[in-house]
Amino acid sequence: MVALDARGKVLEVRLLPRRHFLLRIRVDGMEPAAPGQFVMVAGANQAEPYLRRAFSVYDQEPVGKGVVAVSLLGKVIGPGTAALASCLPGQDIPFLGPLGRGFRRSGRDGGCRGRAALVAGGIGSAGLGMLARALARAERPFDFYYGGRSADDLVEAAEFGRLSESTGGRLFRTTEDGTAGSRGLITEALAATLEAGTRGSTGAYETVCTCGPHGLMAAVARIAEEYGVEGEAAMETPMGCGYGACLGCAVELERGGYALCCRHGPVFDLSEVVW
Ligand SMILES: Cc1cc2nc3c(=O)[nH]c(=O)nc-3n(C[C@H](O)[C@H](O)[C@H](O)COP(=O)(O)OP(=O)(O)OC[C@H]3O[C@@H](n4cnc5c(N)ncnc54)[C@H](O)[C@@H]3O)c2cc1C
Ligand code: FES
Repeated sequence: MVALDARGKVLEVRLLPRRHFLLRIRVDGMEPAAPGQFVMVAGANQAEPYLRRAFSVYDQEPVGKGVVAVSLLGKVIGPGTAALASCLPGQDIPFLGPLGRGFRRSGRDGGCRGRAALVAGGIGSAGLGMLARALARAERPFDFYYGGRSADDLVEAAEFGRLSESTGGRLFRTTEDGTAGSRGLITEALAATLEAGTRGSTGAYETVCTCGPHGLMAAVARIAEEYGVEGEAAMETPMGCGYGACLGCAVELERGGYALCCRHGPVFDLSEVVW
């Protein structure tokens, strides 16, 4: 798949609670992204920061011959994300993508046969949007685990509830302050389902896919290993270039050595990574 180094036209910017935003960009000539792939983008006329920022493709739709509308779900944490959130419809922005390797177990057509668990921490849900839609389209059952500090972190709960329920699955929500779903950590909810599965009731998963803070993905990897489930993680190692030139996105591997998150990932097998 060839990445397109171009400009995208901002179609829509929707500001969401707690500094989240949804940015829709029209890109001419881009090959459709696979679930788990990402793009590098910057705000319009942005001088600082100099480098583009990495964003998962949250959703995409064809809007004409060779023209794709790409949706990015973001959270403002610094100058790069702030510049993107303050874009205006009609502005042109630098755009490079799609980049990296996406989910291989689950893939473009929803790949895995059995039930899947998708586990997101806050804005990590952006990295699972395309996968959830691919599974729903392929009618592959999945449960979506959505954790955050408070209710406002679960910005796309309705959408992930709709997608998982369309496959016969369900949405599990947890918040640390108890303002939505159960009070606690989303990894505790995942472990509880897997534990119930080992006791012979429902709840066994063929695969678990995760995206979110490093600590959450490390906990998911531990739980998956404990219950003998294979899975993948979409890593968000900070990136400079996005295509293998700066060597700034190393991920340490269990077999020894390092991989580049941007070229060999961002999706890795849970068992491949030194957490
Ligand atoms: C493959 C990939 C996909 C991503 N997808 C999304 C997405 O869909 N939506 C989204 O909102 N964000 C996503 N991110 C994270 C996003 O790229 C960063 O939030 C962004 O680069 C921050 O830029 P900034 O200029 O706003 O903040 P900066 O000034 O660069 O950073 C502010 C602070 O946050 C820290 N920081 C920066 N990036 C990260 C990170 N990834 N994890 C933890 N701490 C970090 C910095 O060290 C600094 O302390 C993704 C990252 C990667 C690598
Ligand atoms: S971001 Fe530059 S090598 Fe990966």
